[in-house]
Amino acid sequence: MNKTIAVIEGDDAAPEAVRPVVRLLDSLQLGLTWVYPEVGDAAASTFPDSARAVIDAADTTLFGSTSGKSGAALGYLRWGKETFANVRPCRYLPGCASPLRHPEGIDFVIVRENLEDLYVGAEGPLTDLAALNLVGRTIRKPVHELGDGRYAIKAITREGTERVVSFAFDLAAKRDGKRKLTCATKHNMLRATDGLFLEVAREISADYPDIEFESFIVDDFACRMIREPERFDVVVMPNQYGDILSDAAGGLLGSLGLAASGCFGADYAYFEPAHGTAPDIAGRNIINPTATILSTTMMLDYLGLETAAARIEDALARVYADGSALTPDQGGTATTTEFCAALARAL
Ligand code: IPM
Ligand code: MG
Repeated sequence: MNKTIAVIEGDDAAPEAVRPVVRLLDSLQLGLTWVYPEVGDAAASTFPDSARAVIDAADTTLFGSTSGKSGAALGYLRWGKETFANVRPCRYLPGCASPLRHPEGIDFVIVRENLEDLYVGAEGPLTDLAALNLVGRTIRKPVHELGDGRYAIKAITREGTERVVSFAFDLAAKRDGKRKLTCATKHNMLRATDGLFLEVAREISADYPDIEFESFIVDDFACRMIREPERFDVVVMPNQYGDILSDAAGGLLGSLGLAASGCFGADYAYFEPAHGTAPDIAGRNIINPTATILSTTMMLDYLGLETAAARIEDALARVYADGSALTPDQGGTATTTEFCAALARAL
C-alpha cells in the first residue's frame, strides 16, 4: 500500500519534532512517500498554488505547527478543506509528568468544532453595527453605543453542529471506551448560539440510543475535567472552548508536549500536534516529539495502517514507562534526538 503524505514542518521549534518523526516512520517501511509543499519562508508567496496542488494530491498532510509563516497553509487545511472535526485525545501514559495524584484512567477525547464559532473571523468596530441597532439582552442598550470598541461574531450553524456532533457520536461508538458523549456549552448565557449547539446535540443523541449522552455548562465541565477526568470518554464542544480546554487537557498530562490532534473533514484529514511552535526552545533540540508522534499514529489509523499505529503507541508507552529518555517538559534531560533513538530501540 503506497500512501503519499504532504509534510509542512511548521515554524520555530516545530520542525525539530517533525523531522526525526518522519525519519522514524520512514525507517518502518510502511510504503509512505513524503512530499514537501513549499510554504512560508521557503516559498515565493506564503502559500502558492503549487503547494495547494501538492496537498490536494496527497492522501493526507502532516503539519508541524504555525506561528504565522505557515498560517496560510493552515487556513487552507482547515477552512479550505473543511476539516470540521478537530480530534484531541488526552490519554495518560504511565511515566508522564502529570501534576495529578491519580492520573490513571484518564482516556478521553475532545472533539472540537473546527470552523465556526468566534473563529469565523468576522470582527470590526462596534460603530459598524449602528445600522442594525442591536440591543443586548444583558446590557440593555444598543451595542454600538457601548463605547469605543470592537465586536466579534460567534456563528453556530445547524449543519456545522450536526456534522461535528455526528462525528463525535461515531467516534464514541467506535472507541473501546465508556460509550458516552459529553457536550459542553455556555447555553445559559449564549442561549441562541450555544443553545442551538446543545439542542442539535440532544436531537442527534436520539440516533445513538446505546451511547450515553450528557451535557454540562462549559465552566462546570472545566472543573470536572480537572477533578474527575477519568469519567469522560468523548467530549464535543464549540470551537473556542475546544481550543482552550484541549490545551488544559494537555496540562493534565504534564505538558502540551503530549497533545496530539487530527482534523477531519468529509474527504480530507490532516494531523498536527496541538501545541504551538515553542519559539522559546527553538534550535535547542529539546522539543518533546510525543505530540507529533501521537498525531502520526492517528494519521496511520486514518490511512488504514492500524497495526503500525498500535505498534508505535506500544513502543512509546514503553519509553515513558522506562523513563530514562524523557525530554525536559516531562522532567527528563534527554534531547529530542535521544528520545527518538529510545523510541526506535523500543520499536
Ligand atoms: C490550535 C491553535 C490554533 C487554533 C491557532 C494556531 C490558529 O491554537 O490548533 O489549537 O486556535 O486553532
Ligand atoms: Mg489552540
